[in-house]
Amino acid sequence: MTTVAQAQPNIALIKYWGKRDHSKNLPAVSSLSVTLQSLWTRMSVDFLESDAPDTLLVNDAHAPAMLARVSHCLDLVAGPGRRSANVVSQSNFPIGAGLASSASAFAALVVAADRESGGSRDTLELARLAGASSGSAARSLYGGFVELTAGEDQIDVQTVCESSEWPLEVIVAITEEGPKPVGSGEAMIRGEGTSPFYSSWLERQDDDLNAAREAVLDRDFGKLAAVAEHNCLKMHSVMWSSKPPIVYWNNATLSCMETIRALQSERVPVFFTIDAGPQVKAVCLPEAADVVSSALEQTSGVINTMRSSLGPGARLMETA
Ligand code: DP6
Repeated sequence: MTTVAQAQPNIALIKYWGKRDHSKNLPAVSSLSVTLQSLWTRMSVDFLESDAPDTLLVNDAHAPAMLARVSHCLDLVAGPGRRSANVVSQSNFPIGAGLASSASAFAALVVAADRESGGSRDTLELARLAGASSGSAARSLYGGFVELTAGEDQIDVQTVCESSEWPLEVIVAITEEGPKPVGSGEAMIRGEGTSPFYSSWLERQDDDLNAAREAVLDRDFGKLAAVAEHNCLKMHSVMWSSKPPIVYWNNATLSCMETIRALQSERVPVFFTIDAGPQVKAVCLPEAADVVSSALEQTSGVINTMRSSLGPGARLMETA
Protein backbone atom coordinates (compact mmCIF):
# COMPACT_ATOMS: atom_id res chain seq x y z
CA MET A 1 0.00 0.00 0.00
CA THR A 2 1.12 3.58 -0.60
CA THR A 3 -0.44 6.59 1.08
CA VAL A 4 -0.12 10.12 -0.25
CA ALA A 5 -0.81 13.29 1.72
CA GLN A 6 -0.49 16.94 0.79
CA ALA A 7 0.33 19.95 2.93
CA GLN A 8 1.03 23.58 2.17
CA PRO A 9 3.74 25.68 3.78
CA ASN A 10 2.74 28.27 6.29
CA ILE A 11 4.17 31.74 6.77
CA ALA A 12 4.57 32.95 10.34
CA LEU A 13 3.34 36.48 11.04
CA ILE A 14 4.42 36.13 14.67
CA LYS A 15 7.55 34.01 14.54
CA TYR A 16 8.77 30.88 16.24
CA TRP A 17 12.45 31.39 17.07
CA GLY A 18 14.11 29.49 19.91
CA LYS A 19 13.39 26.24 21.72
CA ARG A 20 12.39 25.41 25.28
CA ASP A 21 13.47 21.77 24.92
CA HIS A 22 15.72 20.62 22.12
CA SER A 23 15.24 16.88 22.63
CA LYS A 24 11.46 17.20 22.22
CA ASN A 25 11.77 20.11 19.78
CA LEU A 26 9.44 22.23 21.91
CA PRO A 27 9.29 25.91 20.88
CA ALA A 28 10.18 28.57 23.44
CA VAL A 29 7.53 30.96 22.11
CA SER A 30 4.03 30.80 20.73
CA SER A 31 3.47 31.82 17.10
CA LEU A 32 0.80 32.73 14.56
CA SER A 33 0.87 31.88 10.87
CA VAL A 34 -1.12 31.72 7.67
CA THR A 35 -1.31 28.50 5.68
CA LEU A 36 -0.87 28.95 1.93
CA GLN A 37 -2.95 27.51 -0.88
CA SER A 38 -0.95 27.17 -4.08
CA LEU A 39 2.49 26.05 -2.86
CA TRP A 40 2.42 22.39 -1.87
CA THR A 41 4.39 19.33 -0.84
CA ARG A 42 3.07 15.85 -1.56
CA MET A 43 4.50 13.00 0.49
CA SER A 44 4.00 9.37 -0.36
CA VAL A 45 4.80 6.74 2.27
CA ASP A 46 5.03 3.03 1.62
CA PHE A 47 5.88 0.66 4.49
CA LEU A 48 7.65 -2.41 3.08
CA GLU A 49 7.73 -6.07 4.01
CA SER A 50 11.48 -5.83 4.51
CA ASP A 51 14.05 -4.57 6.95
CA ALA A 52 16.03 -2.66 4.34
CA PRO A 53 16.95 0.92 5.31
CA ASP A 54 14.42 3.68 4.66
CA THR A 55 14.75 5.51 1.36
CA LEU A 56 13.85 9.11 0.56
CA LEU A 57 13.48 10.85 -2.78
CA VAL A 58 12.97 14.60 -2.73
CA ASN A 59 11.94 16.04 -6.10
CA ASP A 60 13.35 12.91 -7.81
CA ALA A 61 16.77 13.04 -6.10
CA HIS A 62 18.10 11.09 -3.12
CA ALA A 63 18.20 13.30 -0.04
CA PRO A 64 20.57 11.71 2.51
CA ALA A 65 20.75 14.86 4.66
CA MET A 66 16.99 14.84 5.24
CA LEU A 67 16.64 11.05 5.60
CA ALA A 68 17.54 10.86 9.32
CA ARG A 69 14.87 13.44 10.21
CA VAL A 70 12.29 11.63 8.08
CA SER A 71 13.13 8.26 9.66
CA HIS A 72 12.89 9.77 13.14
CA CYS A 73 9.48 11.24 12.30
CA LEU A 74 8.30 7.83 11.00
CA ASP A 75 9.48 6.27 14.30
CA LEU A 76 7.38 8.78 16.23
CA VAL A 77 4.29 8.07 14.13
CA ALA A 78 4.58 4.30 13.56
CA GLY A 79 6.77 3.29 16.52
CA PRO A 80 10.46 2.38 16.52
CA GLY A 81 9.63 -1.27 15.68
CA ARG A 82 7.99 -0.20 12.41
CA ARG A 83 8.79 -1.65 9.00
CA SER A 84 11.13 0.22 6.69
CA ALA A 85 9.66 2.83 4.39
CA ASN A 86 10.02 4.28 0.93
CA VAL A 87 9.20 7.96 1.11
CA VAL A 88 8.82 10.19 -1.94
CA SER A 89 8.44 13.95 -1.61
CA GLN A 90 7.45 16.38 -4.37
CA SER A 91 7.19 20.14 -3.92
CA ASN A 92 6.23 22.79 -6.45
CA PHE A 93 8.58 25.41 -4.93
CA PRO A 94 12.30 25.66 -4.00
CA ILE A 95 13.15 23.60 -0.92
CA GLY A 96 15.48 24.52 1.94
CA ALA A 97 15.57 28.18 0.92
CA GLY A 98 13.49 29.81 3.64
CA LEU A 99 10.13 28.93 2.12
CA ALA A 100 9.00 26.67 4.94
CA SER A 101 9.52 23.49 2.95
CA SER A 102 10.15 21.46 6.10
CA ALA A 103 6.80 22.64 7.46
CA SER A 104 4.80 21.30 4.52
CA ALA A 105 7.00 18.20 4.28
CA PHE A 106 6.63 17.03 7.88
CA ALA A 107 2.95 17.99 8.03
CA ALA A 108 2.25 15.84 4.96
CA LEU A 109 4.55 13.09 6.24
CA VAL A 110 2.73 12.58 9.55
CA VAL A 111 -0.66 12.45 7.82
CA ALA A 112 0.53 9.88 5.27
CA ALA A 113 2.53 7.81 7.77
CA ASP A 114 -0.31 7.70 10.30
CA ARG A 115 -2.75 6.32 7.74
CA GLU A 116 -0.19 4.01 6.16
CA SER A 117 0.58 2.49 9.57
CA GLY A 118 -3.12 1.98 10.36
CA GLY A 119 -3.46 4.93 12.76
CA SER A 120 -6.37 7.34 13.03
CA ARG A 121 -5.00 10.20 15.08
CA ASP A 122 -6.80 13.51 15.24
CA THR A 123 -5.36 16.73 13.82
CA LEU A 124 -3.90 17.98 17.11
CA GLU A 125 -2.10 14.68 17.76
CA LEU A 126 -0.69 14.81 14.24
CA ALA A 127 0.32 18.45 14.72
CA ARG A 128 2.24 17.55 17.88
CA LEU A 129 4.06 14.76 16.04
CA ALA A 130 4.89 17.04 13.11
CA GLY A 131 6.09 19.70 15.53
CA ALA A 132 8.47 17.24 17.17
CA SER A 133 10.22 17.01 13.79
CA SER A 134 9.99 20.65 12.75
CA GLY A 135 8.36 23.24 14.98
CA SER A 136 6.70 25.18 12.18
CA ALA A 137 5.27 21.97 10.64
CA ALA A 138 2.72 21.70 13.45
CA ARG A 139 0.95 24.78 12.04
CA SER A 140 0.59 23.30 8.54
CA LEU A 141 -1.84 20.69 9.86
CA TYR A 142 -4.37 23.52 10.08
CA GLY A 143 -5.72 25.99 7.52
CA GLY A 144 -6.22 29.76 7.54
CA PHE A 145 -4.80 31.78 10.45
CA VAL A 146 -3.20 29.33 12.87
CA GLU A 147 -2.05 29.92 16.42
CA LEU A 148 0.46 27.64 18.10
CA THR A 149 0.64 27.91 21.88
CA ALA A 150 3.94 26.82 23.37
CA GLY A 151 3.26 25.01 26.67
CA GLU A 152 5.75 23.63 29.19
CA ASP A 153 5.44 20.04 27.95
CA GLN A 154 3.51 20.23 24.72
CA ILE A 155 2.08 22.53 22.10
CA ASP A 156 -1.50 23.36 21.27
CA VAL A 157 -2.48 24.41 17.79
CA GLN A 158 -5.73 25.75 16.38
CA THR A 159 -7.22 27.77 13.54
CA VAL A 160 -8.23 31.19 14.90
CA CYS A 161 -9.79 32.47 11.66
CA GLU A 162 -10.68 30.54 8.52
CA SER A 163 -9.16 31.66 5.23
CA SER A 164 -12.65 32.33 3.83
CA GLU A 165 -13.30 34.75 6.72
CA TRP A 166 -10.32 36.94 5.84
CA PRO A 167 -8.95 35.96 2.42
CA LEU A 168 -5.55 37.66 2.42
CA GLU A 169 -3.06 37.05 -0.40
CA VAL A 170 0.66 36.32 -0.12
CA ILE A 171 3.21 37.17 -2.80
CA VAL A 172 6.58 35.48 -2.34
CA ALA A 173 9.55 37.21 -3.95
CA ILE A 174 12.31 34.69 -4.62
CA THR A 175 15.70 36.40 -4.47
CA GLU A 176 17.94 33.31 -4.32
CA GLU A 177 17.22 29.67 -5.07
CA GLY A 178 20.04 27.85 -3.29
CA PRO A 179 19.80 26.22 0.13
CA LYS A 180 20.32 28.45 3.17
CA PRO A 181 23.82 28.64 4.70
CA VAL A 182 22.70 27.80 8.27
CA GLY A 183 19.64 25.67 9.02
CA SER A 184 17.07 27.23 11.32
CA GLY A 185 17.57 24.64 14.09
CA GLU A 186 21.28 25.39 14.30
CA ALA A 187 20.66 29.13 14.00
CA MET A 188 18.22 29.03 16.91
CA ILE A 189 20.74 27.32 19.17
CA ARG A 190 23.25 30.03 18.33
CA GLY A 191 20.76 32.79 19.11
CA GLU A 192 19.68 31.22 22.40
CA GLY A 193 23.27 30.97 23.57
CA THR A 194 24.79 34.19 22.29
CA SER A 195 22.33 36.93 21.32
CA PRO A 196 21.98 39.65 23.97
CA PHE A 197 18.47 40.26 22.59
CA TYR A 198 17.21 36.69 23.02
CA SER A 199 15.75 37.19 26.52
CA SER A 200 13.78 40.29 25.52
CA TRP A 201 12.60 38.45 22.39
CA LEU A 202 11.09 35.82 24.73
CA GLU A 203 9.65 38.41 27.12
CA ARG A 204 7.77 40.42 24.51
CA GLN A 205 6.43 37.60 22.37
CA ASP A 206 3.07 37.25 24.08
CA ASP A 207 2.36 40.97 23.64
CA ASP A 208 2.95 40.66 19.89
CA LEU A 209 0.90 37.49 19.68
CA ASN A 210 -2.04 39.04 21.54
CA ALA A 211 -1.94 42.12 19.30
CA ALA A 212 -1.80 39.98 16.16
CA ARG A 213 -4.64 37.70 17.27
CA GLU A 214 -6.80 40.74 18.05
CA ALA A 215 -5.96 42.26 14.66
CA VAL A 216 -6.97 39.03 12.91
CA LEU A 217 -10.23 38.72 14.85
CA ASP A 218 -11.03 42.40 14.14
CA ARG A 219 -9.82 42.10 10.49
CA ASP A 220 -7.62 45.12 11.26
CA PHE A 221 -5.02 45.01 8.47
CA GLY A 222 -3.03 48.06 9.63
CA LYS A 223 -2.63 46.68 13.13
CA LEU A 224 -1.63 43.24 11.83
CA ALA A 225 0.89 44.83 9.44
CA ALA A 226 2.56 46.84 12.20
CA VAL A 227 2.94 43.99 14.67
CA ALA A 228 3.98 41.40 12.05
CA GLU A 229 6.76 43.60 10.62
CA HIS A 230 7.93 44.49 14.13
CA ASN A 231 8.02 40.84 15.18
CA CYS A 232 9.87 39.80 12.03
CA LEU A 233 12.53 42.48 12.45
CA LYS A 234 12.95 41.53 16.11
CA MET A 235 13.56 37.90 15.16
CA HIS A 236 16.15 39.01 12.61
CA SER A 237 17.76 41.23 15.27
CA VAL A 238 18.30 38.08 17.35
CA MET A 239 19.87 36.40 14.31
CA TRP A 240 22.07 39.40 13.45
CA SER A 241 23.23 39.72 17.06
CA SER A 242 24.11 36.02 17.41
CA LYS A 243 27.81 35.14 17.56
CA PRO A 244 28.88 34.48 14.87
CA PRO A 245 26.07 36.53 13.26
CA ILE A 246 23.48 35.02 10.99
CA VAL A 247 22.32 37.27 8.16
CA TYR A 248 19.94 35.55 5.75
CA TRP A 249 19.22 38.68 3.71
CA ASN A 250 20.80 39.75 0.43
CA ASN A 251 20.61 43.04 -1.48
CA ALA A 252 17.38 42.02 -3.17
CA THR A 253 15.78 41.27 0.21
CA LEU A 254 16.36 44.91 1.16
CA SER A 255 15.17 46.14 -2.23
CA CYS A 256 11.92 44.21 -1.77
CA MET A 257 11.46 45.79 1.65
CA GLU A 258 11.94 49.20 0.03
CA THR A 259 9.38 48.34 -2.65
CA ILE A 260 6.88 47.41 0.04
CA ARG A 261 7.63 50.60 2.02
CA ALA A 262 6.99 52.63 -1.17
CA LEU A 263 3.67 50.85 -1.73
CA GLN A 264 2.70 51.49 1.89
CA SER A 265 3.43 55.19 1.46
CA GLU A 266 0.88 55.12 -1.41
CA ARG A 267 -1.59 53.50 1.02
CA VAL A 268 -1.45 50.06 -0.61
CA PRO A 269 -2.48 47.52 2.07
CA VAL A 270 0.61 45.31 2.21
CA PHE A 271 3.31 44.30 4.69
CA PHE A 272 6.44 42.16 4.55
CA THR A 273 7.71 39.23 6.52
CA ILE A 274 10.99 37.31 6.11
CA ASP A 275 12.01 33.92 7.54
CA ALA A 276 15.29 32.01 7.72
CA GLY A 277 16.23 32.85 4.16
CA PRO A 278 16.48 35.80 1.74
CA GLN A 279 12.96 35.54 0.27
CA VAL A 280 10.44 38.26 1.05
CA LYS A 281 6.81 37.41 1.67
CA ALA A 282 4.38 40.26 1.04
CA VAL A 283 1.00 39.85 2.70
CA CYS A 284 -1.78 41.99 1.28
CA LEU A 285 -5.51 42.47 0.86
CA PRO A 286 -6.79 40.73 -2.30
CA GLU A 287 -7.47 44.00 -4.15
CA ALA A 288 -3.78 44.94 -3.81
CA ALA A 289 -2.34 41.63 -5.01
CA ASP A 290 -1.84 42.65 -8.69
CA VAL A 291 -0.03 45.87 -7.88
CA VAL A 292 2.13 44.22 -5.18
CA SER A 293 3.00 41.35 -7.46
CA SER A 294 4.05 43.57 -10.36
CA ALA A 295 6.04 45.92 -8.08
CA LEU A 296 7.99 42.97 -6.66
CA GLU A 297 8.56 41.47 -10.13
CA GLN A 298 10.17 44.75 -11.17
CA THR A 299 12.37 44.96 -8.08
CA SER A 300 16.06 44.55 -8.74
CA GLY A 301 17.37 41.07 -7.88
CA VAL A 302 13.98 39.34 -7.79
CA ILE A 303 14.25 36.08 -9.73
CA ASN A 304 10.65 35.08 -9.59
CA THR A 305 7.44 35.67 -7.68
CA MET A 306 4.79 33.24 -6.51
CA ARG A 307 1.32 34.20 -5.48
CA SER A 308 -0.99 32.36 -3.15
CA SER A 309 -4.21 32.83 -1.32
CA LEU A 310 -4.69 31.19 2.07
CA GLY A 311 -5.50 27.52 2.13
CA PRO A 312 -6.43 24.44 4.15
CA GLY A 313 -4.41 22.21 6.44
CA ALA A 314 -2.66 18.95 5.57
CA ARG A 315 -4.85 16.18 4.24
CA LEU A 316 -4.86 12.72 2.73
CA MET A 317 -4.82 12.53 -1.05
CA GLU A 318 -5.03 8.85 -1.86
CA THR A 319 -4.31 5.38 -0.60
CA ALA A 320 -3.50 2.72 -3.17
C1 DP6 B 1 11.98 31.51 10.78
O1 DP6 B 1 10.33 25.02 12.03
O2 DP6 B 1 12.30 25.23 10.46
O3 DP6 B 1 10.44 30.01 9.77
O4 DP6 B 1 11.82 23.24 14.56
O5 DP6 B 1 14.24 23.44 14.03
O6 DP6 B 1 12.66 22.53 12.31
P1 DP6 B 1 12.85 23.46 13.49
O7 DP6 B 1 12.66 24.94 12.94
P2 DP6 B 1 11.71 25.48 11.81
O8 DP6 B 1 11.81 27.05 12.14
C2 DP6 B 1 11.02 27.99 11.51
C3 DP6 B 1 11.51 29.34 11.84
C4 DP6 B 1 10.90 30.46 11.02
C5 DP6 B 1 9.78 31.14 11.79
C6 DP6 B 1 8.46 30.41 11.83
O9 DP6 B 1 8.11 29.68 10.88
O10 DP6 B 1 7.74 30.61 12.81
